[in-house]
Amino acid sequence: MTDDLATLQAETEAALAACADPRALDAVRVGMLGKSGQLTALLKGLGAVPAEQRKERGAAVNRLKLAIETAIETRRVALDAAALDARLLAERLDVSLPPRPFPPAGPEAGAIHPIARTMEELTALFGAMGFGVAEGPDIEGDWFNFGALNIPDHHPARQDHDTFYVPAGADGRRPVLRTHTSPVQIRTMLNQEPPIRVIVPGRTYRADHDATHSPMFHQVEGLVIDRGIHLGHLKGCLIDFLRAFFGISDLPVRFRASYFPFTEPSMEVDIGWNRKTGELGRGGDWLEILGSGMVHPKVLANCGIDPREWQGFAFGMGIERITMLKHGIPDLRPFYDSDIRWLRHYGAPVLSPATLAEGV
Ligand code: PHE
Repeated sequence: MTDDLATLQAETEAALAACADPRALDAVRVGMLGKSGQLTALLKGLGAVPAEQRKERGAAVNRLKLAIETAIETRRVALDAAALDARLLAERLDVSLPPRPFPPAGPEAGAIHPIARTMEELTALFGAMGFGVAEGPDIEGDWFNFGALNIPDHHPARQDHDTFYVPAGADGRRPVLRTHTSPVQIRTMLNQEPPIRVIVPGRTYRADHDATHSPMFHQVEGLVIDRGIHLGHLKGCLIDFLRAFFGISDLPVRFRASYFPFTEPSMEVDIGWNRKTGELGRGGDWLEILGSGMVHPKVLANCGIDPREWQGFAFGMGIERITMLKHGIPDLRPFYDSDIRWLRHYGAPVLSPATLAEGV
């Protein structure tokens, strides 16, 4: 190899060794092997070499080219490996770090509010019976809250002293804060083809305020629409639910004829308890706990469902009420006080999800 080629090789190797990243490496490559690179120029210049030296010179330039290409590739592999090492080091995860305590131990630990807890239990219990969960808005149209449910214009629930009305919109109609979860029956039937099986836990509003009534409270609605549904299904479903929810396998349950505009026939449901001690399940007294009935044919028709083909039942109950009974909570008002001592006493532990342990 002639001196100029040896020098060029040495210079290139030094330049490669000095490359710190792939961009610098590329600059060296282009400077040698690119269109106007030094090696390219040498190859192009071979034509001008006197014929008797050309073969030897050509072989030497080609050896140099191979050597430089190999050196560039070797450097590239080394740089890539170094880059990967640096990244692995930077993204290092110390899996031996002790975990943060969760949930926080001690008095900072939160608890699940009894209302939220009951909703979780309702979802688990009815979920096991094949029910989904539906929702609707708190501010309802008059038709959804009353009209579609066959509640006539003169019904007392429509009076201002029971219902919170919202100032009328452009159409002159006054929206209402829903007085029950039943409007979600209508919304579900309008949006979903039967068969339908849903529960609707949610907030409801009535202009009532004393020790046992709050202007905002919670209800859970239930709706089943299918072919051949009859009163037996309603009774079986609610008896199973009440016994599982209260955890009393022989809880007495009584169905009593009643009236709701949106069900026919309608029934109030009572459970057995002891009025004096508050104990559930025995004692010979009855406590009203929910309203229910077979969905009125007019309500089905209002939702475009043919009552000759589809039947169903519905029920509704107060969530505060069943929560107070289940846990022996004597007063309604603290539910909304956010008193941390009350919440800690009646709240459920964060890491104990509602299960079916109480037995469906
Ligand atoms: N919506 C009724 C109430 O608020 C309860 C109910 C629901 C009754 C469904 C029958 C069927 O009192």
